[in-house]
Amino acid sequence: MKIAVFSSKPYDRDFLQAANEAYQYELSFFEPRLTAETVELAHGFDAVCVFVNDRLDASVLPRLAEGGTRRIALRCAGFNNVDLAAAERLSMQVVRVPAYSPYAVAEHTTGLILALNRKIHRAYARVREGNFALSGLLGFDLHGRTVGIVGTGQIGTVFTRIMAGFGCRLLGHDPYPNAECQGLGMSYVPLSTLLAESDVISLNCPLTPATHHLIDAEAIAQMKRGVMLINTSRGAVIDTKAVVDGLKSGQIGSLGLDVYEEEGDYFFENLSEQVIADDVLARLISFPNVLITGHQAFFTADALRSIAETTLGNLRDLEQSGHSKNQVRPPQG
Ligand code: NAI
Repeated sequence: MKIAVFSSKPYDRDFLQAANEAYQYELSFFEPRLTAETVELAHGFDAVCVFVNDRLDASVLPRLAEGGTRRIALRCAGFNNVDLAAAERLSMQVVRVPAYSPYAVAEHTTGLILALNRKIHRAYARVREGNFALSGLLGFDLHGRTVGIVGTGQIGTVFTRIMAGFGCRLLGHDPYPNAECQGLGMSYVPLSTLLAESDVISLNCPLTPATHHLIDAEAIAQMKRGVMLINTSRGAVIDTKAVVDGLKSGQIGSLGLDVYEEEGDYFFENLSEQVIADDVLARLISFPNVLITGHQAFFTADALRSIAETTLGNLRDLEQSGHSKNQVRPPQG
């Protein structure tokens, strides 16, 4: 099978090539993202292997199909960047990696909370300047605080375990309550209750029409003043402009982001020689109580190994049996 790997970085190449020892597929690596401008690169490939910021919308998919591509292998869990209905109409099969390391994302989420609370990012910079003063670094004990988790699937469950270990009170919001989380002491509550009672709110749900801008001005107004908000899910789950207003007013006390609504133009690239044209992103970076990482929550060696193995395994399943347990289809009805 000929596979065109888009948005590929040296680390993708290393892990996919190692996993491919067992498959011997023909892998071609392309650095650009898959978009309407780059889709011709996929001409003649049986499959494309794509990541979170590749665009597989109704303008790209027909041209992929014209070029002979019938399989789309996402090397990520989220599939909000694929028009599944258009793919199905074109008889294209879509597979993803539903769980590669929920630990990687849950642990990074915890890292953002600890760094923001104890201002570790600021302390690091201060100490390097010979400034050992503590003013401005005051945090709070996580023990006994209320942590609200929106989305208690694979990642949310691991994160619940970690927060249970810290001795936090746990509130959850999810259309499908999870018995393991309940066993750890989580109470499932309506979103409005979670927003009103949580000291720390972590978003661990997928981006869907129902969760798009779930955290908007109205939701922020319901939160505790000074709340810590963490988003390691997908950028558009929060209305970033409303969050900037919340930070300016002090309603949001601190913000940890691993994802950003408009991250496609910035994340995964070294743009340190350029001016950031996105005023919202530039404003976010300017706050002392905001910590942003560039979609790195998944980025552990364990996760990359698992992603590469599952991605090639998914394609082999499609090739050999015509289907895969990790196939994604448009919602029915
Ligand atoms: P999962 O599918 O196991 O869990 C998602 C949970 O969210 C499910 O329990 C689902 O019922 C719940 N949910 C759906 N709609 C909801 C709503 N309206 N309100 C509250 N909960 C809702 O997915 P998993 O593996 O836990 O991943 C969650 C998300 O994390 C992914 O969809 C992806 O967008 C993001 N992610 C981010 C990564 C990063 O590097 N920052 C890496 C991997 C995933």
